[in-house]
Amino acid sequence: MSDVHVVVLAAGKGTRMRSARPKVLHRIAGVPMIDYVLAAAAELSPRTITVVVGHQAEELRQALGDHRGLTIVTQEPQLGTAHALLTAESALADATGTLVLLSGDVPLLTAGTLEKLVARHVRYGAAITIITAMVDEPYGYGRIVRLDDHVERIVEERDAGPDERAIQEINAGIYAFALDGLFETLKAIARDNIQGEYYLTDLVGLCRGQGRDIETITVTDADEVRGINSRAELAAISRVVRDAKTAALMSAGVTIDDPASTFVDRDVQVGQDTILRPGVHLQGSTVIGAECEIASGVRITNSRLGDRVVVLDYSVITDSTIASDARVGPFAHLRQEAAVGEHARVGNFVEMKHTAFGAGSKAMHLSYLGDAQVGSHVNVGAGTITCNYDGTHKHVTTIEDGAFIGSDTQLIAPVTVGEGAYVGTGTTVREDVPAGSLAVSAGKQRNLEGWVERRKQRS
Ligand code: UD1
Ligand code: CA
Repeated sequence: MSDVHVVVLAAGKGTRMRSARPKVLHRIAGVPMIDYVLAAAAELSPRTITVVVGHQAEELRQALGDHRGLTIVTQEPQLGTAHALLTAESALADATGTLVLLSGDVPLLTAGTLEKLVARHVRYGAAITIITAMVDEPYGYGRIVRLDDHVERIVEERDAGPDERAIQEINAGIYAFALDGLFETLKAIARDNIQGEYYLTDLVGLCRGQGRDIETITVTDADEVRGINSRAELAAISRVVRDAKTAALMSAGVTIDDPASTFVDRDVQVGQDTILRPGVHLQGSTVIGAECEIASGVRITNSRLGDRVVVLDYSVITDSTIASDARVGPFAHLRQEAAVGEHARVGNFVEMKHTAFGAGSKAMHLSYLGDAQVGSHVNVGAGTITCNYDGTHKHVTTIEDGAFIGSDTQLIAPVTVGEGAYVGTGTTVREDVPAGSLAVSAGKQRNLEGWVERRKQRS
């Protein structure tokens, strides 16, 4: 869009959150609140985006460092929304055209609504165009005061009289401003209100006094302009985002047994005919293939699953991959780049860390495989563990294709079990096992006959 600049306000204390962290970094469906706002802003293809930070500025600056092309300005101290916009003046020194002002704590606003805002603003050549909404419970918002249909001013909740409090048309805190003369008028705003703050909303009355045109657009879905000021509002809006995500997945052909108890982060992808059972959490950048089944209580974070993968109940999978047709769980734990191959099976109480587990291999019960390179069609017996850590360094265990590791084996890394080799039950493998051989380390068994009876007589 032509000649649009965006400013995002995010300097406020967020007192009502009662948090040590900046409000706009609290996450909604796995994504910081402000990322939703910046994504909508980016769709306007603005010439510049300026973010005003203040409270906990350093943490916020660092988090925003990931977003390229932002100008970040600091408002210190935070004296209100008009004062916040004034701190962006130098960043916009040569800017002309339209300034779109967004609030870092209003995350559900769509790019479509912003486009309508700018279109109306430009068409009418208005000084200010305000996004408003009609709500049943306007408490806390600024109210739009009209006279003969024209917007006269905005009055804040705390400064409003009883008649004004009854107004149901609220200010979303999102505006388009004509940049021409904007900062001059802003400087005329005083702080003679109950909060002693410079209210950006006072700009409306001032422009009206200058006889300039104030326009509005009213959103039909009031959820779009809900601001987050408290943890309860954070939870309520998270719920709206989650419901939209599960609805989108279901329309794309995913079965979700119980959407209310299924938590899927915004950027997660799930393939057709996959089934999500109740209590599943899919987080971060996770991608799940088609025709998978993810059972109850499973948490999958930043991981990639192929097609037809089954993950049984209460498994935890982080930063890992599972190839097609593999079966994992129940109660499995894959982390730190575990890579499970096609048709492989990982059973209960098996943990894998930084381990490649080849196609068709099996580890069905009670194992720990850390820093291991396991080939294809390997059988790892119950209770087998890699001893990968010597107290100072981590070492690699290599198990080549087709090897058979008997139950209760300890593999003391660095060590290699060769192709097709067997390791007997209860072996402590300290040295490499050559391909095709059998390794045993347990001593010969002795039976002391009549020992039990003799013990009874002693006592
Ligand atoms: C504001 C509006 C209100 C509107 C509501 C919509 C004003 C005076 N009031 O009220 O009419 O209905 O938003 O959500 O503008 N901020 C700064 N620096 C400051 C103060 C605030 O950057 O000094 C930022 C906050 O971080 C936030 C935004 O401005 O992102 C709005 O501030 P907030 O204190 O939440 O205003 P509300 O009371 O919600
Ligand atoms: Ca707010």
